[in-house]
Amino acid sequence: MKYGYFDNENREYVIEKMDLPTSWTNYLGVENMCAVVNHTAGGYMFYKSPQYHRITRFRANAIPLDRPGHYVYIRDDETKDYWSISWQPVGKPLAQADYQCRHGLSYTKYSCRYKDIAGTQTLVIPRGDDVELWDVHIKNESDKVRNLCIFSYCEFSFHHIDMDNQNFQMSLYAAGSSYENGIIEHDLFYEEFGYQYFTANFKPDSFDCLRDKFIGLYRTENNPLAVEQGKCGGSYEKGSNHCGSLQKKITLGPGEEIRLVFMLGEGNREAGSAIREKYSNLDNVDKVYDDLRQYWDSKLSKLQINTPNIGMNTLINIWNIYQAEINIMFSRFASFIEVGGRTGLGYRDTAQDAMTIPHSNPEKCRQRLVELLRGLVSAGYGLHLFQPEWFDPDNKAKPFKSPTVIPAPSREEMVHGIEDACSDDALWLVSAIVEYVKETGEINFIDEIITYADQYTARKDTVTARKDTVTARKDTGGGSVYEHMIKILDFSTEQVGENGICKGLRADWNDCLNLGGGESTMVSFLHYWALKNFVELAKYLGKVEDVKKYSMVMKNIAKAADEQMWDGSWYIRGVTKNGKKIGTWSDKEGKIHLESNTWAVLSGAAPYDKGIKAMDSINEYLSTPYGIMLNGPSYTQSDDDIGFVTRVYPGIKENGAIFSHPNPWAWAAECELGRGDRAMGFYNALCPYHQNDMIEIREAEPYSYCQFMMGVDHTAYGRARHPFMTGSGGWAYFSATRYMLGIKPQFENLEIDPCIPGEWEKFQVTRVWRDGTYHIQVENPEHIMKGVKELYLDGHKVKDIPQLKGTHEVRVVMGNQQERI
Ligand code: NOJ
Repeated sequence: MKYGYFDNENREYVIEKMDLPTSWTNYLGVENMCAVVNHTAGGYMFYKSPQYHRITRFRANAIPLDRPGHYVYIRDDETKDYWSISWQPVGKPLAQADYQCRHGLSYTKYSCRYKDIAGTQTLVIPRGDDVELWDVHIKNESDKVRNLCIFSYCEFSFHHIDMDNQNFQMSLYAAGSSYENGIIEHDLFYEEFGYQYFTANFKPDSFDCLRDKFIGLYRTENNPLAVEQGKCGGSYEKGSNHCGSLQKKITLGPGEEIRLVFMLGEGNREAGSAIREKYSNLDNVDKVYDDLRQYWDSKLSKLQINTPNIGMNTLINIWNIYQAEINIMFSRFASFIEVGGRTGLGYRDTAQDAMTIPHSNPEKCRQRLVELLRGLVSAGYGLHLFQPEWFDPDNKAKPFKSPTVIPAPSREEMVHGIEDACSDDALWLVSAIVEYVKETGEINFIDEIITYADQYTARKDTVTARKDTVTARKDTGGGSVYEHMIKILDFSTEQVGENGICKGLRADWNDCLNLGGGESTMVSFLHYWALKNFVELAKYLGKVEDVKKYSMVMKNIAKAADEQMWDGSWYIRGVTKNGKKIGTWSDKEGKIHLESNTWAVLSGAAPYDKGIKAMDSINEYLSTPYGIMLNGPSYTQSDDDIGFVTRVYPGIKENGAIFSHPNPWAWAAECELGRGDRAMGFYNALCPYHQNDMIEIREAEPYSYCQFMMGVDHTAYGRARHPFMTGSGGWAYFSATRYMLGIKPQFENLEIDPCIPGEWEKFQVTRVWRDGTYHIQVENPEHIMKGVKELYLDGHKVKDIPQLKGTHEVRVVMGNQQERI
């Protein structure tokens, strides 16, 4: 069953059936302000941090579904009937009104046609201004004059997620509101910069700043008293819960139309007044869309594809890159699942995000790399989850001091010890750095001196769990990026268990497979991959000794893999602290795991024949029509020797779900084996585009990879959950473009080595790499899956595609003879 369609020309997903089985979300804002909104205008907005600086309130995981939001109500003053432009909160019967929601890149447009009144409400956050605009158009499509009232509504938050949800002693009596000159000011009295404003491009006829006055007691957003009565009550107060409601009476003749703009922003009344002036000029509102369009154009145009797979084209050209960008911007801290309470950078997730899109967002990727390098402990492991400001030597931000005593964590708590280290975290960073340099050519980055997390002096008295918690001494030394990389690699070389396999420590990529701290084959393979990338870099830098030394470490891992990790048809997943091998043929549950096998192949550690066998086993035991399961059969017996995974319901998340993030590892692994048909089969299964007409099963949005889909061992097999904030966003993009389409930047040349389905005749890619634009035409006359026979640059046969300025035509002829000039 379908609920909408992809409008690729406008880069929008259009939802036409509003009663979706779950919220379908979008992200607004690309700088400091961000709003996460769903198909019914439910959602919330924050400034920089959803945990510490929430602007609008959201009752997550509650009923009615995903409320409140940023709503506009319309009331017909003659009939007293009212509705909202977004289907909810009023929720007119779908047979009586036409609703639509268009999720675009950084904006969402809601529309409604009811009783011959057409209304649209577009939510958008401009670049350069910390404000959300609600761009509202109302048109009278009837043949008589209509007298209408328009109301806005949003509910303000107490900023701090904890203070908004518990112990209201301070917050409830310290938040105030006032109204003056068409501007509502919301004020958190004890915060120095605790202001928001709500205003509009018109003089309101009435207003309400108090939520409970606008809504009325024993009512909800469905039937607010003010809307029912046709007028706000002019409420405001020091203390209490606050809202932004402005009301305007309008009269529209037949065919007449009006445009109103509401503005919800960060800052006090003065800031609101300046913004009001700016966006009362509607040209400035129009410019916001043009500007965002250009912003996304410039990102998307760095890589555009035209292949025989429309789903792949749609994802790679629009939605997948959008999702990967959202992840690098907002990490994992803002969604309807992650609703604050987990801000800061997750080490592994951020490193992978940064690795996957340095071409479209080099600045942000670089910023993330530096933050992660600063979050590296000099022993060589990363801080699993940390606030980057803690380790920013230039950070001057003042901590917010709550009047309620919150015990300040000690420095030791911020720089945790090895007992809290995850074995994979920092390994991802090595490859991310190499990828960044290959993309940008910024080789000097490798020499940059960066501090280690444990090289700071902490002033105990200023330490809180929030913002600027340590005072950094700039003279503490630190090391070059290259040295950081060595520390990471050496850490994993040293942290090896009895079997010669890397210790799993608290966990590896799989948060729930703890192995009691035993050994993780996945990490050994990941170590191998990081070493491989590092050795390439060391070679390029002419560091002969390092090349020798680290190549030897790789050899040892390959030997251990062969001797200790192979189980006959696939690689085991690990060894528990008590010496039990996990993921073996003789296991009844958790027999085979995706991570270890894909990484054995993708890293290059597995010999070809074992790689083929391992991936065939993955196909046989774990692949489904919706993607590949993480492991199987699911665990049903809890076993703390294996880990928390055995306490997760079978078929959900890490216990046998179709976990999206490792799926692209399988595509890449298959490409390393030269099996383009298999890679594309796996790709298509997971591709959300291809699940657009099975929403009764998938439930979640088809324009975003979700973290997981229930596996075969669950009753809701195929149901997807956790959109946007997942490592599958970046990895799907990375594997599809680098491995399947085969466009891989190297230090000095642009490598093109696709692995595609044999039936493909040809495909095109436009790739911007450094200062050059390459129009690449790949031809496959022999219908093979991998292998390049001839390469042409601007009509001349060449061996490599070098770094060039300007625009160039590249022709790649695939074929079995490796016959290059
Ligand atoms: C989600 C976490 O954010 C990520 O770090 C982890 O790798 C996966 N879950 C798998 O456990």
